[in-house]
Amino acid sequence: MASWNELFADEKYRELTPETAVYRFCSMVEAAFEERPLKIWDLGCGAGRHTLALARLGHDVYATDAAPRAVDLTKQRLAEFNLSADVRLADMADCPPRPSYFHGAVSWNVLHHNRIAAIREAVSHIYDSLIPGGMLMVTLKSDKADFAGQGTEIEPGTFIHDIGDESGVPHHYFNEDGVRDLFSGWEFMVLAEQVIAHLERPDRFWEYTPFPFTNWGVVVRKPL
Ligand SMILES: C[S@@+](CC[C@H](N)C(=O)[O-])C[C@H]1O[C@@H](n2cnc3c(N)ncnc32)[C@H](O)[C@@H]1O
Repeated sequence: MASWNELFADEKYRELTPETAVYRFCSMVEAAFEERPLKIWDLGCGAGRHTLALARLGHDVYATDAAPRAVDLTKQRLAEFNLSADVRLADMADCPPRPSYFHGAVSWNVLHHNRIAAIREAVSHIYDSLIPGGMLMVTLKSDKADFAGQGTEIEPGTFIHDIGDESGVPHHYFNEDGVRDLFSGWEFMVLAEQVIAHLERPDRFWEYTPFPFTNWGVVVRKPL
């Protein structure tokens, strides 16, 4: 059983290279709002790769994570590069309230690590924290992903796996209806399912494949 906090003790779990998609999302938010700096929330910041990238672009970044090591790593890396951001320890379902504050929020490979009720809480909290027209980018596990349906199902669609690096960490797998339901009340700007079928699955391939896993890519906007 590995928690995220335990995984972050090992350097190989610290993703340091920002996703291109996050820069593209940032450009979308920059195009939508004239105000600078933008206020952007990185929910589930991990080792801080997107917090640093967004701070480097000159934006005012708020970063949260439930793992103390993630918060420490993000703070250390910000200091190392002479950047600043507001980094806090907070569970996705229980973040300090910031009503109508952010222009954008990013949560990359985070929200599906929970039970559906907590994921709904987090999405509702993000909604309340965005200004009208504010945008959220998330990735979510698809029910077509490797390991979907494997392990112990602790509630419909949520599994705790007994293999892989994230064994012991809950994963909720979404079908299209599940994603649409999660974001009812939002405007969809992008709803994309990126399906990667691993046709060769050598032993522990997930540890070294350079390719992504099957995920939903979602950009939603709080209505004006
Ligand atoms: C796969 S990592 C992604 C980290 C980062 N977003 C990135 O792209 O590098 C998942 C992150 O979600 C965080 N996380 C998991 N459950 C969480 C929760 N309940 N509340 C807040 N963060 C959580 C973990 O601590 C970890 O940093």
